[in-house]
Amino acid sequence: MLQRACAVAPLLFAPLLLAALAGLPVADASFVQRCGSHICVDNVPWYFQGANAYWLIDFVQKDRGMVDRFFDACNQFGLKVIRTWAFNHRMPYAWGKYDEGEFQGLDYIVDSAGRHNIRLILALGNTWTAYRSPQDYLRMAGVDPATTDLLGFYNSSQLRHFYKDHISAIVWRTNTFNGRRYREDDAVMMYDAMNEPRCPGCMDAASQAIHHSFLQEMATHLRGQAPYQLIALGTEGYFMNTYEGWNSGAGARCEGEDWVTINSKITAIDVTVVHVYERQMESVPPAWGKCNFTCFVNYMIQTLTDFLRGPERAVCAAAAAKWWLPIWTAPWAQTVDVAAYQRRCQDMTVLQVFLDTSKLVYG
Ligand SMILES: *[C@@H]1O[C@H](CO)[C@@H](O)[C@H](O)[C@H]1NC(C)=O
Ligand SMILES: *[C@@H]1O[C@H](CO)[C@@H](O)[C@H](O)[C@H]1NC(C)=O
Repeated sequence: MLQRACAVAPLLFAPLLLAALAGLPVADASFVQRCGSHICVDNVPWYFQGANAYWLIDFVQKDRGMVDRFFDACNQFGLKVIRTWAFNHRMPYAWGKYDEGEFQGLDYIVDSAGRHNIRLILALGNTWTAYRSPQDYLRMAGVDPATTDLLGFYNSSQLRHFYKDHISAIVWRTNTFNGRRYREDDAVMMYDAMNEPRCPGCMDAASQAIHHSFLQEMATHLRGQAPYQLIALGTEGYFMNTYEGWNSGAGARCEGEDWVTINSKITAIDVTVVHVYERQMESVPPAWGKCNFTCFVNYMIQTLTDFLRGPERAVCAAAAAKWWLPIWTAPWAQTVDVAAYQRRCQDMTVLQVFLDTSKLVYG
């Protein structure tokens, strides 16, 4: 795939989420819903911590018991939400075609989560090359990825059709272990339309419009297919021109994610998402290689605080009427979800640090 100008080093995964919600009628009390500026279960605001465990989709192929043991450990440590990949190396392997063995692995994860009282965030696709990427979708559609870029992927009506079919295949899947469709399973709390849908180099208005229109189309499609579950876009939280100074590192706006616009204009979503990743500290002293975990936790708290107290105030003042998400209306800070940095999510010491530090974030 061609590299557009002004790209920074990619973030590989999505460790931390900052979620905030708006109000919709509660369709079914057993689902996690948004209610006003809260996340609710049974109409009562619900608070949670979780971990990003994308690798479950791999582990389940080798040892299903490992999935159960992982969810047991989550219960032990009070982690209520797990984010994972709802795609795999052969999911899909061609347009509309899925490896049944891999899909049954995902079935097992979803069923096991339900048995363990764990709620899942299913990321439906990936911007990065791991597992399934836009490059793979392009190949499946007969387009040589070397001839285009992410903007070309976002702009293609054929690829949009393809990706929406993929979304439908996941959402409408009937679980081979419990007979429920994913869309009817309250163990599935939320969908990320795509993991970290960047658009490198897309800083001009025309490129931005294409990127937003892709995300809008996917969110609207999801809204229609999954009416009982939460929808988010898997964004990282980068600002374009106006709030560039709030970005996590130099060059972040070159990745084309206009977080403020995306989350204020795309009304089909329920939850806004911010990823806080250690590598974002490359430009933050002390340098990346020297930043230990304490340093990272401080950075994370600072970043979340910026989102809680920073740009949104100005945006709110500047665009009051357009800003539909109650996220920005006080009090709204109750819906912070701190997920453990996934490479360490089995490190219980670290989990405990997150449990402690998140108390600071929750305030
Ligand atoms: C996007 O697609 C439209 C319609 O096919 C095309 O006219 C336009 O040139 C494309 N834009 C980019 C930036 O690829
Ligand atoms: C972690 O780094 C900080 C500086 O950011 C330092 O003050 C602290 O002693 C370090 N902690 C450990 C356990 O190395």
